[in-house]
Amino acid sequence: MKIPGRKNRAFLFQHQTTMKDKQFETQAIRTQLPRSENNEHSVPLYLTSSFVFDTAEDMRAAFAEETDPYIYSRYTNPNNNEFVDKMCLLEGAEAGVATASGMAAIYTSLAALLQSGDHVIACSSVFGATHTIFNKYFPKWNISHSYFEATNPGAIEQLVQSNTKIIFVETPTNPGIEIIDLELLGQIAKKHKLILVVDNCFATPYLQQPLKYGASLVVHSATKYIDGQGRVCGGVVVGKKELIREIYLFGRITGPSLSPFNAWTLSKSLETLALRMDRHSENALYIAEALEKNAALEFVKYPFLPSHPQYAISKKQMKAGGGIITFSVKGGYEAATKFMDRLELIKISPNLGDARTIATHPASSTHCKLSKEERLAVGILPGLIRISIGLENKDDILKDIIQALG
Ligand SMILES: Cc1ncc(COP(=O)(O)O)c(C=O)c1O
Repeated sequence: MKIPGRKNRAFLFQHQTTMKDKQFETQAIRTQLPRSENNEHSVPLYLTSSFVFDTAEDMRAAFAEETDPYIYSRYTNPNNNEFVDKMCLLEGAEAGVATASGMAAIYTSLAALLQSGDHVIACSSVFGATHTIFNKYFPKWNISHSYFEATNPGAIEQLVQSNTKIIFVETPTNPGIEIIDLELLGQIAKKHKLILVVDNCFATPYLQQPLKYGASLVVHSATKYIDGQGRVCGGVVVGKKELIREIYLFGRITGPSLSPFNAWTLSKSLETLALRMDRHSENALYIAEALEKNAALEFVKYPFLPSHPQYAISKKQMKAGGGIITFSVKGGYEAATKFMDRLELIKISPNLGDARTIATHPASSTHCKLSKEERLAVGILPGLIRISIGLENKDDILKDIIQALG
């Protein structure tokens, strides 16, 4: 099988062999394109939509897939390849495809692998836009779905049908912060020969590597922690090479490709992912512990708080708790929006995973397309607030939250 878009396939294997035995931080920093004749230290940005061929025969052979050079940036590009190769090493994957956003990674992967008549099992608390793909768009192409509650993955087995092809999950879930046992999911997927797809957006490969537990594919919104500074949108899917090949071929035709500039930015950002995730996690745990005692809140949820219902599973499969905490403000919708309006340092925004702390009120924003009943079913209470804890001083973040609670 060809790996898409490599002039010299040795590129992938060079890194696989020289970087494979290195630790996460070294792989994230040292995986890079071969130097050009200019001997640059930092990888250049390949802002080119297409690539040239020496002869008509070279171009014919490339299109016939007899050779594997760069052809056109909708297919792939050197900056894209560097980003993808790095993500493959960090997630422990064979191959991958970069896309323009996290939703492009999710949609392209599912659309490439599913046929009319297929069935998907997903956790009911997937990200709002993923929910909308299952509920609104897939039925147009006769692709059905069943939801299981993230807190009850044992229910999956009863939902398996003869046409079930994929299990799709997020863990931790957005914004409920539920944790699903990846080991159990891997066992169920293997038993029923299903493709397990895990959205690893909240954890990142630094905190959790789903492929180790039997996932076939891992998808990411690189817009979040992979960028880490709220600058660019991007996505990536990595996993088994036979599945990635299908996704690559579908994406090459339908065009959800990541721009070279965004790929360059994301690959650079990965250099600091480990450092950032350690600090996000340290700040978030400190703030979650401090807020647990706050009388203005109904509850605080964070994977590494012992009060979290799936604390033991979080500890088993995650290196640290990550940067997202949620809490429910007493007084519901009105009290929650009042809290948001009182924030000073923390900004109101739909994004997460930024160096800057961000507050979101899911019921009125990211999850407003769900009905009230659907929101309640996945734990999105009217008073629920999601805080993406940034890298500012943890006491400054905490002070702002406490003053806004009034
Ligand atoms: C868990 C999760 N998956 C996917 C996405 C979609 O990513 P993007 O906004 O990059 O398309 C998001 C966005 O917030 C998310 O939180």
